[in-house]
Amino acid sequence: MNSHILRASLISFAALAVSVSVFAKEPIDPIAPVKDINLAQVELGKKLYFDPRLSKSGFISCNSCHNLSMGGTDNLKTSIGHKWQQGPINSPTVLNSSMNIAQFWDGRAKDLKEQAGGPIANPGEMAFTHDLAIDVLESIPEYVNEFKLVFDRDEINIDDVTQAIAEFEKTLVTPNSPFDQWLMGDKDALTANEKAGYKLFKESGCIACHNGPAVGGSSFQKMGIVEPYQSKNKAEGLSAVTGKDADRFKFKVPTLRNIEMTYPYFHDGEAETLTEAVDVMGRLQLGKKYTEDENAQIVAFLKTLTGDQPSFTLPILPPSTDKTPMPTPFE
Ligand code: HEC
Ligand code: HEC
Repeated sequence: MNSHILRASLISFAALAVSVSVFAKEPIDPIAPVKDINLAQVELGKKLYFDPRLSKSGFISCNSCHNLSMGGTDNLKTSIGHKWQQGPINSPTVLNSSMNIAQFWDGRAKDLKEQAGGPIANPGEMAFTHDLAIDVLESIPEYVNEFKLVFDRDEINIDDVTQAIAEFEKTLVTPNSPFDQWLMGDKDALTANEKAGYKLFKESGCIACHNGPAVGGSSFQKMGIVEPYQSKNKAEGLSAVTGKDADRFKFKVPTLRNIEMTYPYFHDGEAETLTEAVDVMGRLQLGKKYTEDENAQIVAFLKTLTGDQPSFTLPILPPSTDKTPMPTPFE
C-alpha cells in the first residue's frame, strides 16, 4: 500500500476510534466459537444460572431477567425484582457479554465474575445475601459434591459460585448469523436491501461506536451527542463510577448482536422498536434524519446480526433437602 494512503487510512480509522486492524476488510468481525473454557465449571455454572434458590424468594434466577429463550433479556422496559419491585434500568443481554470491556451500562463491574456477585445480594433484584446463598447450596449434597469435584475445596464459597456462573456465561456466544456468513465469504447470505443497510450503517458513522465482533461493547460514549437525550430515568452513566462530570450520560455502547430479540432499547427501555431506536441514534448521535426507506434498510441489516442461540439440555437442579432454608417470597 502507498504510504500516503496508508497514513490517510490510519488517520481516518483513528478519527473513528475504531479498534480494528487496518488490514481487516470490515470493521465488524465474525463471532468466534468459544474456546479455552473449563467444561466442568460451565456445567455447574449453568445450574446456578437457572437456580432460583439463589434468591430470597426462591423464585428469581439469573434466567428470570436474562431469559436465554428470549435473547438473554426480559424484554421489559426495566426489570422486575424481589417482591415485584420496579427495576431502575433496562436489563442488557448476557449473550456475547464476555466481549464487553466492562459490565453494566456504566461499567461498574470489570468482568463477568465480578458482575455475577451483584444480583444475588442486590435488594432490588434477588435480595439474598451471599452467606444465605452458600447455606442453601451447602444443604444440597449434589451441589456439595459437584463443587468439590470442580474446585477441589471442602467448602463452597461465593468466589467459586461467581467463577462458575461467569464460565457458563462465556459459552453464551451467538456465531453464524447471516451477517457473519456474509463476512466469511458467502456473498448470497445478505439481500441487496440488507447490504444497502450495512453500507448506510458504515458510511453515516454508526460504525464509529458499534464495531468489533459484538458490534458494540468496546467503549463508553455519550448518549445524545448532537442533540441531548431526554429521559425520565435517573441513570447518569459512567460518571457514577468515575465521579467526573464529563462522563455524565456516557453509557457502555450496547452490542447490536441479536438486537432484533433484545427490545425494548436504550438504558431506559424507552424505544420500543428498532425503527425508533435507529431514528433516535441517527438524529441524536449523528445529526442525521433518515428517510423511511433508509431507516428500513438499516433495520434490515441489524436483523442479520441474529446468530445461533445457545442451545443445551435444560439443567435439572438437585432437589432441596430437609436442611435447606425455606425461601421467603413475601418478606
Ligand atoms: C431482577 C432482574 C435481574 C436478575 C435476577 C439478574 N440480572 Fe443481570 N442485570 C439486570 C439489570 C437491570 C442489569 C443492568 C444493571 C445496570 O447496568 O446498572 C443487569 C446486568 C447484567 C450483566 C451486564 C451485561 C452488560 O452488558 O453490561 C450481566 C452479565 C448480568 N446482568 C448477569 C446476571 C447474572 C449472572 C445473574 C444471576 C446471578 C443476573 N444477571 C441476575 C437484571 C437482572
Ligand atoms: C457516538 C457513539 C454512537 C453512535 C455514532 C451510534 N451509537 Fe448507537 N448507541 C450508542 C450508545 C452509547 C447507546 C446506548 C444509549 C443508551 O442506552 O442510553 C447506543 C444504543 C443503540 C441501540 C440500542 C441498543 C440496545 O440494546 O438498547 C441501537 C439499536 C443503536 N445504538 C443503533 C445505532 C445506529 C443504527 C447508529 C447509526 C445511525 C448508531 N447506533 C450510532 C452509541 C452510538
